Amino acid sequence: MPLIHECVVTTLSPEGRPHIAPLGLIEEQDYWIAAPFRPSSTLYNLTQNPQLTASFTDDARVFAGLVAGRRNWPLTDIEDWPAPRLSAALAHAELIVERVEEHELRPRFFCKVRRIESHRPFLGMNRARAAVLEAAILATRLDMLSREKIESEIAYLQIAIDKTAGEAEREAWDMVMAKIEGYKDRAKVPATR
Ligand SMILES: Cc1cc2nc3c(=O)[nH]c(=O)nc-3n(C[C@H](O)[C@H](O)[C@H](O)COP(=O)(O)O)c2cc1C
Repeated sequence: MPLIHECVVTTLSPEGRPHIAPLGLIEEQDYWIAAPFRPSSTLYNLTQNPQLTASFTDDARVFAGLVAGRRNWPLTDIEDWPAPRLSAALAHAELIVERVEEHELRPRFFCKVRRIESHRPFLGMNRARAAVLEAAILATRLDMLSREKIESEIAYLQIAIDKTAGEAEREAWDMVMAKIEGYKDRAKVPATR
């Protein structure tokens, strides 16, 4: 399996409006591949505008916030490049789509890296941040998972939160948990029609 870089991708609408979404970019030989599911704004934007920016951040709140519906994360313009990066990025990569492999559910956009720039130091791995990332991915797939699977995954990930989270990671965890609890509550309501 190839390495996947979990990042926040900025794409541009036809009017040039930036859209951010968490995405895993697949590193395969000389290409980085974006594989957004249908339907999504990221996919639509990439078919309209072949330039994207990947922001690499250690702020788990951004991933958590985006899956919980908080989209107003500050962006910073990049000189000579149309898609802004997250202001919180430790580094960003500018990517150009070279070709597209069409697929009914999940087309693959093969990109070349134009430039990578660092903005601040990376201060090491952290289990709680990784746990938030896992829970955030889980929170985007709730309708595909059983309640038992969701609960057992959360119970395991909670250990890393309890042992290694700082304040930001706790805040991020709470955002994802609120999203998952909201889904579970809605799933309990019997269908009326
Ligand atoms: C860490 C992480 C990685 C993700 N990677 C992908 C991905 O590779 N492809 C995808 O379609 N969705 C992925 N998602 C889910 C999308 O971010 C989510 O579906 C998002 O709403 C995209 O839709 P939008 O472009 O309409 O905003 C990921 C979510 C997280 C938290």
